[in-house]
Amino acid sequence: MKRTQVVIIGAGPAGLLLGQLLHREGIDAIILEQRSAEYVLGRIRAGVLEQGTVEVLERAGVATRLHAEGLIHRGVEIGFRGHRHRIALQALAGKTVTVYGQTEITRDLMEARDGSGAVTVHEAEDVQLQDWDGPRPRVAFRHWGQAREIACDFIVGCDGYHGISRRSVPPERRRVFEREYPFGWLGVLADVPPPWEELIYANSERGFALASMRSPTRVRCYLQCNLDERVEDWSDARFWDEFRRRIGEEIAERVVTAPSIEKSIAPLRSFVIEPLRFGRLFLAGDAAHIVPPTGAKGLNLAVSDVFYLHEALRDFYRERSERALDAYSAKCLSRVWKAERFSWWMTRQLHRFPGDAFDQRMQESELEYLFVSRAAQTSMAENYVGLPLDS
Ligand code: FAD
Ligand code: DHB
Repeated sequence: MKRTQVVIIGAGPAGLLLGQLLHREGIDAIILEQRSAEYVLGRIRAGVLEQGTVEVLERAGVATRLHAEGLIHRGVEIGFRGHRHRIALQALAGKTVTVYGQTEITRDLMEARDGSGAVTVHEAEDVQLQDWDGPRPRVAFRHWGQAREIACDFIVGCDGYHGISRRSVPPERRRVFEREYPFGWLGVLADVPPPWEELIYANSERGFALASMRSPTRVRCYLQCNLDERVEDWSDARFWDEFRRRIGEEIAERVVTAPSIEKSIAPLRSFVIEPLRFGRLFLAGDAAHIVPPTGAKGLNLAVSDVFYLHEALRDFYRERSERALDAYSAKCLSRVWKAERFSWWMTRQLHRFPGDAFDQRMQESELEYLFVSRAAQTSMAENYVGLPLDS
């Protein structure tokens, strides 16, 4: 049977980054991923990185292209009733965010891993976690028709919301907190220069819209949609027509459309499992928690989880100390719940909810208050740019 120190399930950003951080500490890890590398790179998701996330990527040695191509943003805008209100992130919270696609981070991490000679098994099927509660965990899987098994010291579940790691723990040992929202996001990627300088989160009577970007020549835009809608029902023309109606007149006039490169629908959900450690099994990233994307927190949380976990594993191998491993769950969850609150708040204020007239008025007055209160803007800015990694 093959042996390694850490088996990581999932080669999304969380799994790849953990592999890279451990490699730099001299700790061996094998990553098992059920999909091909091309499939993983084809998933278009996050775009906004906190400064803390950028710092972790620097420490992992994978930030060269990020610094060359990432776009620094000093503010974001909220569209409401035909006006755009700027939240001055840097002036209010002292930090900026960087716009750089999750796909690019994944590509940078894959290249670093290939260069280091560390092993990633793609298209690993039927992955099963065994004996994770004792001192000698094992992971069984099939690869190209052959049964394989790896013995290890620790297993880390970085296999996202639909993964098996979390489900390997008996229900009586875990607690789940969940909220589903009655809508999704329809996203489009297109090669056209963005006619907006900063991201615009628009609350309109027709539903939420987000104007984002990936580069000076590529836009990423989202529309709130019903959960029963299908991508096939949204031609490019229909998407841009609806986007123009929601984003506000001034921007609508400047929007130049181009054929979409990618179009997909994502449901919105809040989800947390507690705790994040079960014996020698640890959960990190979307396997442990989901936030609705409105606060741009999901990828950033995945990065802070694996940052803390790599420090804890480093202490274990260097000093045989389990102190940081014992503290991992509580340390992450404190940060996770703050991001859950902020993402829920952003989602609540910016989307159209089916509901009563009172809730609607509450949403409107919350936004009106935000636009006049420096304290409210500071709170939003601090949360959006991200709390310090040691908070
Ligand atoms: P994933 O990216 O889901 O990776 C998990 C990996 O595990 C996958 O490759 C999967 O194939 C693999 N896997 C699953 N099951 C198994 C199995 N049984 N065996 C082996 N492998 C398995 N976050 C931000 O911070 N900022 C943003 O601006 C932002 N925008 C977003 C916009 C949208 C539309 C969406 C949908 C998400 C957004 N997010 C954002 C969230 C962010 O994309 C996720 O939080 C991030 O992908 C989490 O990374 P992960 O590695 O934990 O999980
Ligand atoms: C993007 C995604 C988000 O969830 C967000 O809040 C901001 C930007 C994006 O994909 O660009």
